Amino acid sequence: MTSVSELSAVLGEQAGRESADTFYQRLIQAARSGGGRLLVVDMDGKVQFDTFDEQCGTRLALSEVHTLLDGEKESDYGFHQIDNGTQQAPSVFDPLTGRDVNRTWVGCFASALISGGERVGALVMIDSVQETVDSLTNMRDRMLGIFGVALAVVLVLAAVISRIVTRPVAELSAGIERMSEGDYSRRVHVPGRGEMAQLAAAFNQMSQQVHNLDEARNQFVSNASHELKTPLATMKILVESMIYQDDMPGDLRQEFLSDINKEIDRLSSVVGDLLTLVHIDSHKLRLRREMMVFADTVRESVKRLQPLAKKRGQEISMEIADACEMFADPGKLAQVCYNIIENGIKYTPDGGKISVRLRRMGRDAVLEISDTGVGIPAEDVAHVFDRFYRVDKARSRDTGGTGLGLSIVQQIVRLHAGSVTVQSEQGKGTTFTVQLPVK
Ligand SMILES: Nc1ncnc2c1ncn2[C@@H]1O[C@H](COP(=O)(O)OP(=O)(O)OP(=O)(O)O)[C@@H](O)[C@H]1O
Ligand SMILES: [Mg+2]
Repeated sequence: MTSVSELSAVLGEQAGRESADTFYQRLIQAARSGGGRLLVVDMDGKVQFDTFDEQCGTRLALSEVHTLLDGEKESDYGFHQIDNGTQQAPSVFDPLTGRDVNRTWVGCFASALISGGERVGALVMIDSVQETVDSLTNMRDRMLGIFGVALAVVLVLAAVISRIVTRPVAELSAGIERMSEGDYSRRVHVPGRGEMAQLAAAFNQMSQQVHNLDEARNQFVSNASHELKTPLATMKILVESMIYQDDMPGDLRQEFLSDINKEIDRLSSVVGDLLTLVHIDSHKLRLRREMMVFADTVRESVKRLQPLAKKRGQEISMEIADACEMFADPGKLAQVCYNIIENGIKYTPDGGKISVRLRRMGRDAVLEISDTGVGIPAEDVAHVFDRFYRVDKARSRDTGGTGLGLSIVQQIVRLHAGSVTVQSEQGKGTTFTVQLPVK
């Protein structure tokens, strides 16, 4: 731009002084050294000199030239696309960018020609800038290409990652849905050790627990119904035979009535035990704790069961080494003593021995109840605290047990933060040990 201005200043000075020929030669010289095409237009915009000798006499319709001739500026420039018969290399982005490969970009630099202080025309230099435009287009195409590839990679990665992230979530939600429909057998598989895998493991564990609880509940309901149905069925038979046998002898009728009475006792004891367990399960059972002497509770229970033992010719011995004063629920602990001693009597043959020992061991009261009874087979020992569990179903039926006594014992002892264990040898006897914290 500066060189065109400088050249126009020199040419302007010479314009009036030398012949048109010399002026033209000077122009060609300048165009050669500058490497472009030079044109001189007069004040009407008509081309007077053209170093390419193509447009002499024509009007140059270039906006830069007209701003100079109008006197608005001393120099100006602009870029235009012209059709000069050459074709550019096509690019894949041409349809996108709307590039016309048949047209060439040129730069027009115009400067006013001033001679003797007056504006006499303009010097215009036209030079191709296609190379620069080509390299810019190349760069843009390359960037568009890189951007396209990067976009594709990002989209693929996003799709893969979202699949990796959402698959375990979808698995889990499917599991939860199945669980809410009552299917607890469904397990979720999420590989790895990440948070989702931990969540899946926690879900599986919870699902297993719910499954176990569901089974235990069903088992409990079916066992409880069975326990209630048996005495009802017996009573129905007894009552029906009394109804349909008008000529039933008085003493037989009396016997039937006493059997019905026994069944009613059995029913009410089962219902009582069930209610106690339901209360403990629903956390409604509250201990009525008070300062009590555990030794008195033990003595009281033995006293209550003494007649039952006597009936079977059994002897209950008592050995109390410590009063074991403690803050506990006397009614509930009496039930613990009663249930275990009653078992001792029930599962010991006539003439056997039951011994009850109470002592203090550190901070604990230790109650041991042993018998010389039938004992419990090794494989059953672990189950005697289970609800409705009876070692010998037929034998227990004779003695009227429901298999709830020991589970109630265990729950009460646990509520007191204590423990109950059993040791037994089949045919020799059984020892139950209850350990309760004194303070
Ligand atoms: N001292 C014992 N000697 C031998 N077996 C015992 C003894 N105590 C309990 N068992 C076995 O454990 C089972 C469960 O005892 P648990 O007291 O819970 O039930 P139960 O005595 O049958 O009925 P109940 O609910 O009326 O007490 C018994 O059926 C019996 O088979
Ligand atoms: Mg019992």
